[in-house]
Amino acid sequence: MNTSTRDDAAAISARGLYKAFGEKTVLDGIDLTVQQGTILALLGPNGAGKTTAVHLLTTYLRPDAGEVRVAGWDAAKHPQAVRRAIGVTGQFSAVDGYLTGRENLMLMADLHLLPKRVGRAKAAELLERFELGEAGDKPASTYSGGMKRKLDLAMTLVGDPKVIFLDEPTTGLDPRSRRTMWDIIRGLVASGTTLLLTTQYLEEADQLADRVAVLDGGRIVAEGTPAELKARIPGGHIELSFADRARLEAAASLLDPTGRDDDGLTLQLPGDARVSTLWPLLRRLNDASIEVEALTVHTPDLDDVFFALTGRKGA
Ligand SMILES: Nc1ncnc2c1ncn2[C@@H]1O[C@H](COP(=O)(O)OP(=O)(O)OP(=O)(O)O)[C@@H](O)[C@H]1O
Ligand SMILES: [Mg+2]
Repeated sequence: MNTSTRDDAAAISARGLYKAFGEKTVLDGIDLTVQQGTILALLGPNGAGKTTAVHLLTTYLRPDAGEVRVAGWDAAKHPQAVRRAIGVTGQFSAVDGYLTGRENLMLMADLHLLPKRVGRAKAAELLERFELGEAGDKPASTYSGGMKRKLDLAMTLVGDPKVIFLDEPTTGLDPRSRRTMWDIIRGLVASGTTLLLTTQYLEEADQLADRVAVLDGGRIVAEGTPAELKARIPGGHIELSFADRARLEAAASLLDPTGRDDDGLTLQLPGDARVSTLWPLLRRLNDASIEVEALTVHTPDLDDVFFALTGRKGA
């Protein structure tokens, strides 16, 4: 039974969202709240139901049960008002490859019924802001994946939405394009926009999100700030690497490892980066004349959280 109170002041709120396709339950009663001017990352593996959640929150699909409020509107009663308030960048590009970047943006401006002059100015401003100025008059089919993704988001911004949904905005982008996209997203939030983004990348959630909701098996299995989620995983671990099997064996019988990798010639031990932890460990190895190639201290990250919660490795 859901006892949380409804937060009508939030930019996005969902209570008890349920959706099944035929026999298959995809969302099994999820609650989400995104406060105005913040970013929520909805994190989950392939097939977790992220896109379905976005479709329900943006009125593209109707839930079988549950309530959605976006920008103050009840999505079931006022779907048009919700659609007017939001921008959505779907998982798969809405860019028309036959049109140029500028034409794609102008088309959006027409859909928003902006006067031609305003639309032209808006298109030019967005091309500039997304560093697409030079490519603006080339057909979008000639754009790289990163350029298409940027154009996609630029098209979402034509209508100046206050609440934006981004479904996997950086999947498939190279690290540099990903950082550019992150900067753009941070800029949007800094100017007061509310964002819900889905991602399979833990680092992305860690970098961008005020709060993270982990979706798995149709349920939110954890929700909190990145720091809160990381705090749920006890301690880190120390990894020792050895030059050969003999040293690995010797160390394994001396210490009490919690994990070992015979091929990688490594042992894992519980512990952290404190000198009071590391010093006695190294002294024991030294006293037993066991040479260690390398020592690394692993501090828990969202990857560990994800693994602990879902039993799966993140991307
Ligand atoms: N229209 C549909 N009809 C039937 N099943 C569907 C439909 N849409 C989604 N599903 C199923 O719902 C589940 C969740 O799909 P969804 O696209 O929401 O996952 P996702 O988390 O977005 O995954 P990905 O990371 O791959 O994008 C999948 O098992 C999918 O096959
Ligand atoms: Mg998806």
